[in-house]
Amino acid sequence: MHMDRILTGHRPTGPRHIGHLVGTLETWAKLQDIYECFFLVADLHVLTTDYARPERIHDNICNMLADWLAAGIDPARASIILQSAIPEHAQLSLLFGMLVTVRRLERIPTYKEQVKELNLQPSLGLLTYPVLQAADILVYKANTIPVGEDQLPYIELAREIAHRFNQTFGQVFPEPEALLSQVARLPGVDNRTMHTSYGNAIYMCDTSEETTRKVMSMYTDSTRIHSNDPGHVEGNPVFIYHEIFNPNLEEVEEFKHRYRTGKMGDVEIKKRLAEVLNTYLAPLRERRAKFIAQPKMLMEILHSGTERARLISRQTIDEVQVCMGLSQRQSSTGYGVVGQYPGVFC
Ligand code: TRP
Repeated sequence: MHMDRILTGHRPTGPRHIGHLVGTLETWAKLQDIYECFFLVADLHVLTTDYARPERIHDNICNMLADWLAAGIDPARASIILQSAIPEHAQLSLLFGMLVTVRRLERIPTYKEQVKELNLQPSLGLLTYPVLQAADILVYKANTIPVGEDQLPYIELAREIAHRFNQTFGQVFPEPEALLSQVARLPGVDNRTMHTSYGNAIYMCDTSEETTRKVMSMYTDSTRIHSNDPGHVEGNPVFIYHEIFNPNLEEVEEFKHRYRTGKMGDVEIKKRLAEVLNTYLAPLRERRAKFIAQPKMLMEILHSGTERARLISRQTIDEVQVCMGLSQRQSSTGYGVVGQYPGVFC
């Protein structure tokens, strides 16, 4: 049976929050039943904005992996891979760099935003971030890329690169397609999008006390002054959370009715939400704690996924090198290119 191939990943910026959990990780876990899956720990991509703190990377990788596994990513069925341990990602990125103009990369919206925010001269690494991402995908000839909407410009570029390559050198790459997450982005406790750097996230590794404290501080309906004023349910993060995490639909409907008619206070609904959320997260926290206590095992999982992936990435690079006239080497394991083709080097 031929299975479509998925590649997706995260930059290891630390523990995952519950927005990652319901927006991404639970979807990835389900996709493992239908696709051949590669989940990438994009450590090279971290360096594009944060290269001066190398001591954090290892811990961040362990924390992210523990969350991935707790959420149901299964190393027996999917390959979890470390970007920096597979030189073919960087190699393919360099070669793809020949097919893309600087101007095209400067037009990518996230790049423009970051340059504005950074307040300093953008690095070459930041500019070529999307080219590396195209290499991540195409080095495995992945055709389906589950991502959030923010990543669409990158997938579009990967498609363009694949297309240009194929037109120039013959059919080698699929034109990958994004598989958009069906779950709306979870708001943070302050009602902005949940984001690690906003300080508004609830983490999978938070204790139940921390989770309760964050829920009790949550933004609700700012137009409501007294708890017996009629309240707004739409766009109210407390209700968005209840809809996602509370399995008792009848109770949620009843809460909505009482809230709208001024018969339910914020404290009561938040207390119940804290309970619901803690029940949802309890088994995940337990699994996570087991994984994080075994960093050696985490590294072994990463190592074996990476080895498996490398068999494919090497083949692709061999094929690409031949296409681009760089080496005539056919075998994916062969050393001794010099010996085989002395003429090239003399
Ligand atoms: N840019 C992605 C993020 O910030 C991470 C990433 C790197 C990725 N390479 C990828 C995602 C390839 C999908 C496919 O989360």
